[in-house]
Amino acid sequence: MSQRKILVTNALPFANGPIHLGHLLGYIQADIWVRFQRMLGNKVAYVCADDTHGTAIMLSAEKANVTPEELIARVNQEHARDFADFHVDFDIYYTTHSDENRELASMIYGRLKDADKIAQRSISQLYDPEKEMFLSDRFIKGECPKCGAADQYGDNCESCSSTYAATDLKNPYSTISGARPVKKDSTHFFFKLPEFTDMLKEWTRSGVLAPQVANKLSEWLDSGLQEWDISRDAPYFGFEIPGETGKYFYVWLDAPIGYMASFKKLCETRDDLEFGDYWNKESDTQLYHFIGKDIINFHALFWPAMLETAGFKKPDLISVNGFLTVNGQKMSKSRGTFIMAETYLNYLNPEYLRYYFAAKLGNTPEDLDMNLEDFAQRVNSDVVGKVVNIASRCAGFINKNFDGHLGSTLEVPELIIEFQKAGSEISALFENREFSKAIRLIMTLADKANQYIAEQQPWVLAKENPQDERVQAICSTGLNLFCILIVYLKPVLPVIAEKVEAFLQVDPLSWNDSQSLLTEHEIARFEPLMTRIEVSKIEEMVDASKESLVTEEQTEAKTSSASSPLGKDPISEEIEFPDFAKVDLRIVKILHAEHVDGADKLLKLTLSLGLDDSGEELTRSVFSGIKAAYTPEKLIGMNTVMVANLKPRQMKFGLSEGMILASGEGNKVFLLEPHDGAEPGTRVT
Ligand code: 2FM
Ligand code: ZN
Repeated sequence: MSQRKILVTNALPFANGPIHLGHLLGYIQADIWVRFQRMLGNKVAYVCADDTHGTAIMLSAEKANVTPEELIARVNQEHARDFADFHVDFDIYYTTHSDENRELASMIYGRLKDADKIAQRSISQLYDPEKEMFLSDRFIKGECPKCGAADQYGDNCESCSSTYAATDLKNPYSTISGARPVKKDSTHFFFKLPEFTDMLKEWTRSGVLAPQVANKLSEWLDSGLQEWDISRDAPYFGFEIPGETGKYFYVWLDAPIGYMASFKKLCETRDDLEFGDYWNKESDTQLYHFIGKDIINFHALFWPAMLETAGFKKPDLISVNGFLTVNGQKMSKSRGTFIMAETYLNYLNPEYLRYYFAAKLGNTPEDLDMNLEDFAQRVNSDVVGKVVNIASRCAGFINKNFDGHLGSTLEVPELIIEFQKAGSEISALFENREFSKAIRLIMTLADKANQYIAEQQPWVLAKENPQDERVQAICSTGLNLFCILIVYLKPVLPVIAEKVEAFLQVDPLSWNDSQSLLTEHEIARFEPLMTRIEVSKIEEMVDASKESLVTEEQTEAKTSSASSPLGKDPISEEIEFPDFAKVDLRIVKILHAEHVDGADKLLKLTLSLGLDDSGEELTRSVFSGIKAAYTPEKLIGMNTVMVANLKPRQMKFGLSEGMILASGEGNKVFLLEPHDGAEPGTRVT
């Protein structure tokens, strides 16, 4: 068969948060497929990048007191590290904030414009007059217009599930500054998507998508597509639209172009890759996108329409994965099941996860549940108990009794042939991304190999005569069966496969190597390939995933629970005056306030307790869960009251040296503010 040339992409993760297990599902899936193709001898370029633009990233950078460029550079390193640690073998991990992407986005936009596919009109949107920026629905909250529930986002109510326009919210406020939004007009640019309806109806049914996905798209296509707003007003972190001032491409316009841009960058370093070969309309290479089910519309509606207009080829396949649930539920920070890649790696081997995902993944966009008990049980029983066990049962005899030499004859030729023949079925399953079926088949073979060894009992024969030729033949057969299984598992377990290659002293295994056998061949000493998952490690990982939030929640509880309004919370138990007198309450001035990178609710405050005896300003750092109600700008310069003798507590984000007093919860928190004239440092009695 001739060599296929395939460009594979994974969805580009946003550059404002760490990689977690939910992300990894799609990346591990694509990586397994890529490794399988490479083992077949196909030529694969596998690209990914950070998705770096948009309001959320701009605001994250602001909170962290860094420029967006600094933020995305840091996150890029972290993401690239996490993917590499899980053996996701990208040829390039780039960024959408690149010259290549700017040029390609401008070029494609120019072609859309030339083809008369861009409309321009003024629209009215909510605007934050304090922050001087337009607000998307996610940055507006208020009371639900239907049921009156407080603190609902600008598009739908979590309490009664109704959907509405942000302008319908009662008492709306900007979640960025707290200000009441006002309506303001501005010119926007729209991609004329409805003109592509017929093309998309046909294309989405052409085999590029799983039928379930095509059905979902039909719902949208049949109910009528809307023009797509591709512009955003300044301030915005992104690419300015050529020929316009203060107008930027919406992040989702340049994100998929980031696939092209990353590939273009890769071509610069690789003589064997040519950009046009992979993107020209007539190209016979293949373009495969792996994405999650939440971003189907961007990839299967907007993106093919853009590509067609701009004269590029459309994807040949869009593989869609579902979400990850843990223990049957949405990943949860409070349950400790929102597990970061980095946290996982502190406790567990990445290949455990690769195997478990493979054992459960199909080619449909169904959610995948990772039951943590099942995870340990499955990996221990399959990989360690079945596969590795074959080698550990046979290797010792070959190493010790036969000086590392595999015999010249093998036994059970019919079993060997069965193993070899299974290769084509397993290959078809991998090709079609039906990994769970492939794994099931491989494990059935592993069971057969173990059964053969158990029946032959080489250890009994070796006891009588360590040099018995049959012992050599049985163990050589066992190791050959093992080697075939490793060929089939190599896309999933690349590190184990590499260790096996070293142990068997063979070149890197390719898919065809399942058809050749090792006889009269010298092997190296057997080293342990994988240890069992210890359940205690999973427990520790879950605890560590809880920690970060608990610390924040505890702090928040401390700032709010003591101060719930009368009538809602019963008055606490009486205390003696000396107990009260132990609490050293002081007037403090807020010198500085800042957002805390990675914390949802906290602000970091620097408080002044006035001057000490030597005339130096006495300061304290305090973390406080008041972010929903106060911006740092509002706080700086304010006076408030703190518990000055609270024992300092080490938190995830740093040391907190006290507590400030406030009433209420969430965005209805009110700091206690002394009357004018109260001096910082004065004791409150
Ligand atoms: O949903 C997301 O995380 C997006 N950052 C994915 C972008 S994929 C591609 F279009 F760039
Ligand atoms: Zn409601």
